[in-house]
Amino acid sequence: MLTSKFLCPTTIHFGSGVIQQLPALLSTLGTKTLFLVVDSALLSTPFYQSVKTILDNSLTNTVLFSEIEPDPSSSTVQNAFEQAQQHQADSVLTIGGGSAIDVAKAVAILMVHGGKIHDYEGSETFDQPGLPLIAIPTTAGTGSEVSGSCVITDTDTNRKMSIRHAQLNPARFALLDPDALVTLPATVAAHAGLDAFVHALESFTSLKATPITDALNLKAIALISHDLRAFVKDRSNQRAALNMLLGSAMAGMSFGQTGLGNVHCMARFVGAKYHVSHGLSNALCLIAVADFNRVAEPTKYAQIAQAMGVLSQQDDEQTMAQRAVQAIAALCRDVGIPSGLRHVGAKPQDIEAMAADCVKANYTQWNPRPTDHAAFVALFEAAY
Ligand SMILES: [Fe+2]
Repeated sequence: MLTSKFLCPTTIHFGSGVIQQLPALLSTLGTKTLFLVVDSALLSTPFYQSVKTILDNSLTNTVLFSEIEPDPSSSTVQNAFEQAQQHQADSVLTIGGGSAIDVAKAVAILMVHGGKIHDYEGSETFDQPGLPLIAIPTTAGTGSEVSGSCVITDTDTNRKMSIRHAQLNPARFALLDPDALVTLPATVAAHAGLDAFVHALESFTSLKATPITDALNLKAIALISHDLRAFVKDRSNQRAALNMLLGSAMAGMSFGQTGLGNVHCMARFVGAKYHVSHGLSNALCLIAVADFNRVAEPTKYAQIAQAMGVLSQQDDEQTMAQRAVQAIAALCRDVGIPSGLRHVGAKPQDIEAMAADCVKANYTQWNPRPTDHAAFVALFEAAY
């Protein structure tokens, strides 16, 4: 008999103004010197200033690190680690998107275990928690604040290293504060939001899905599909921003445990080849994959249509599944996603090689419909 488990070691505080709880959390952790990892674009924002005022008024020593690039590298991690070591930091706070959170996780591991971040590539390569980490996400997309993984690019080989530990790598506390999203550009809000939607969708339809992840993912699909448009239109819409953060976190709790699927598989190679952001790469492959997968999972796609609020009473299951795909296409269109990969510089002659890379990457261990080379070629052509 197959057994499963579900865990979420992160305590999640959420709501407007939730950052006011920082002093109490730092006191719980017994923090004396806090290593603060912040996306540099945030340093001038009112939100960061509010966090800084709270920290300045607490008894904690703070060391700021903000030299973080997108897709952060191992040399950035090493720099951060050396500074944290030099100041003998005992806790880490991160404010930012997936890149800042990933650097903070890597530093937390190195501060306890030493060595280089390369030493921890793979799954469950360490057996003690890193320094305690508090994460305040400023995008609603990656779910990195609750997931057990971080991705760091090897500076020498330009290869992405994934460090995963479902129990020991998630943040100790996540603070989901809609005020943190106010200054997010609309396009980033759209692309990151669709990344979160794809996490929920691919986790829900994964071969490794469980009733617990299903419940989280269906709610995430409902929240994101209901509020992404409003959030992209106005990032200061607090209800929409909080629902996006919650949806992103729910999907983040789930996908590390279920795996993802063909959208993330294809997006990985699209992003690397054409230098397209992770969220946009996913959004561009999403509709073709959803249409392909609904044939294998019509019942789940009917549930997706229900969660997205596009069901009609008379529909049979196949029609409901089609409605889900149509609703996903409308969501992408309404938040400004281009209609195909050709709009981001993709070339038809690259499709064969990208399809071969997809077969090797083996996301079919999770994707609900078996996908061979010819099927990946057809998916890239459909997404083109
Ligand atoms: Fe993603």
